[in-house]
Amino acid sequence: MQNILVTGWMWFIGSHTVIALIEAGYQPIVFDNLSNSSADVLDTIQKITGKNIPFIQWDIRNKEDLQQVFSQYTIDAVMHFAALKSVGESCSKPGLYYENNIGWTINLLNIMEEYNVTKIIFSWSATVYGDAQSPIGESSPTWNVTNPYGMTKRLCEKLLEEKSRFSRLQAISLRYFNPIGAHPSGLLGEQVVWIPNNIFPYIMKVVSGELNSINVFGNDYPTIDGTGVRDYIDIMDLANGHIASLTHLLAWSDPGFDAINLGTGKWTSVLELIATTARLTNKDVPYIIAPRRPGDVSAVYAGVEKAEKILWWKAKYTIEDSVKNALRFVRHI
Ligand code: WQD
Repeated sequence: MQNILVTGWMWFIGSHTVIALIEAGYQPIVFDNLSNSSADVLDTIQKITGKNIPFIQWDIRNKEDLQQVFSQYTIDAVMHFAALKSVGESCSKPGLYYENNIGWTINLLNIMEEYNVTKIIFSWSATVYGDAQSPIGESSPTWNVTNPYGMTKRLCEKLLEEKSRFSRLQAISLRYFNPIGAHPSGLLGEQVVWIPNNIFPYIMKVVSGELNSINVFGNDYPTIDGTGVRDYIDIMDLANGHIASLTHLLAWSDPGFDAINLGTGKWTSVLELIATTARLTNKDVPYIIAPRRPGDVSAVYAGVEKAEKILWWKAKYTIEDSVKNALRFVRHI
């Protein structure tokens, strides 16, 4: 059984990917900083899969801890999700984001090289494309990031590409569009403690009664109904996209780097998302039209040909599937 070290495993995308790894026959190795959230998520993953996951108390910021993990396990590949990821916070604390997101990645790459671990999958997002014209292919410009969070992730991706030129590193950077949904069991989903920045968890908080109504940021975009359109990809499709990428990466014999979009290639507007939720809950989902949010673009959706061609992977879940699974999770917690 191949060991896959997963950093940042307890968050939305990492936790669903750990389940997909187990179901695909891999052994995920996760760190546990013993925070309450990570212990709860570990229990939930073990309940869903029926499998115990080895975890070690280590912190990616601590080189000695990393040393302990790589000396204790033979690592076949790494999936690197750990990062600070609040766009807003990165604007007020850019130094923290540069030090952590880039520092953690450098620590990880150095210890991987010391232990001859050459394969890494890097978690990234369509933020890299800025306001590129949709459908967005992987060859679209990638330096239009407009905030420190996005720039740290783009610099980490560039570091992987450069390092693969002068070492044996084999790296795939996965560029996600807009992840939504929850695990079909209703036991795992996107936990957002405060007021969500993103539309989908915000809609779910209105459905659960935690928030009163949605501010729809602008209805004067050149789109089907004037509201922003995005490529919403279900979390289960996204997790399976990681497994398809890992299978592809494990077959590489030479050093190299590649970047691959994980999206559906379809688009949905804000009002369509709200209407689907209202229909499935048979309840009104209150919203008001608010001014546009600075930095937003009207349309973002993926070019998906590359993932289909080289990963043999395609998104299968519909928006309705994602809303139904998320509602099950919201009602469960
Ligand atoms: C989607 C649409 C908004 C909130 C973000 C991050 C990006 C990546 C994916 C990490 C837009 C509208 C939103 C609200 C609204 N994450 N909206 N009211 O901005 O496409 O991408 O998540 O890597 O970094 O930027 O997602 O959900 O914030 O916005 O009307 O309260 O919903 O205008 O049209 P976005 P989003």
